[in-house]
Amino acid sequence: MSLTGARDRLLSLPSVELGTLPTSIDFAWRLRDAIGMGARLVVKRDDALPFGFGGNKVRKLTLVAAEARDQGCDTLITCGGVQSNHARATASAAARLGMACHIVANGKKPEKFTGNALLNSLLGAHVTYVAERTDRIPGMEAIAASLRAGGKKPYIVPLGASTPLGAMGFARGIGELVYQGIVPDVIVSASSSGGTQAGLIAGCALFEVPTRVIGISADDPVDEIRKVVTTIGSGMEDQLGLAHGTLGVADRFEADDRFFGEGYGIPTDASREAQRLAASTEALFTDHWYTAKALSALIAYARAGRFKDGETVMFWHTGGQVGLFA
Ligand SMILES: Cc1ncc(COP(=O)(O)O)c(C=O)c1O
Repeated sequence: MSLTGARDRLLSLPSVELGTLPTSIDFAWRLRDAIGMGARLVVKRDDALPFGFGGNKVRKLTLVAAEARDQGCDTLITCGGVQSNHARATASAAARLGMACHIVANGKKPEKFTGNALLNSLLGAHVTYVAERTDRIPGMEAIAASLRAGGKKPYIVPLGASTPLGAMGFARGIGELVYQGIVPDVIVSASSSGGTQAGLIAGCALFEVPTRVIGISADDPVDEIRKVVTTIGSGMEDQLGLAHGTLGVADRFEADDRFFGEGYGIPTDASREAQRLAASTEALFTDHWYTAKALSALIAYARAGRFKDGETVMFWHTGGQVGLFA
């Protein structure tokens, strides 16, 4: 398959409409001045996707939920933490498509529902609480088996919708940038289950743009992220009819695990500073699980002179603002 053929295949994948694309690209002049960087700073506003409080999972779900619909499924099952943005986005997609939703959440049932947990309950999702992350996959399989036994047709959406199909949503996102006429030199974004990063890197190869994509880890060491990102990349090549290695995901992979501090969701001094600067200069809201930490990395790179004057640096805002109300 040629790259052109693969691009055509990518763009013709069945999808459901969840909110309006493209998302805007905002120039963040005031934030750039506050950071003191010479490069141009732009923000891809997936946080402002007008569906179910937005965020990066919406792009993935446009394709994954379409597959569920086309297989005649009536229920989406997924997993995550109690405050998972992905689980809320999946419950939103299920509601929009008239499907039921089951979430397997690791953690304790909150005494008072806040943030994403509150939204999940309003969306009508059924939540099963399990003790450990390792209980999530068996938990989803058990729910699927019992729904099947009752005559239902469930579809399991894996963690973060980070499947090759879900990542295609981000490969399409690079096509969106080309269409919008702003192709940055560097993209910085949060990375965890790998689908966003794999999709962005694959998209750069598919749309033949030289942009570097730097994933800022929310919780895992770089080598683990590399493993999941490259596995998703190979799966994308399979689905697009390309030979392994064509998209160069392993070669173009760049990630940084020095910014999550003491752990997932625990603020650092730098993420606090990033959160305040983004809000007070641009009315951009970020969270301490993902986006404030990714932005703190971008700020640290700028201060260390890693971006050249005249370059365009894009902060791909992946959402997470609901976490401010958790
Ligand atoms: C707000 C936000 N940003 C970034 C990510 C990471 O994306 P991915 O799981 O595709 O690596 C997540 C994942 O849950 C998220 O909720």
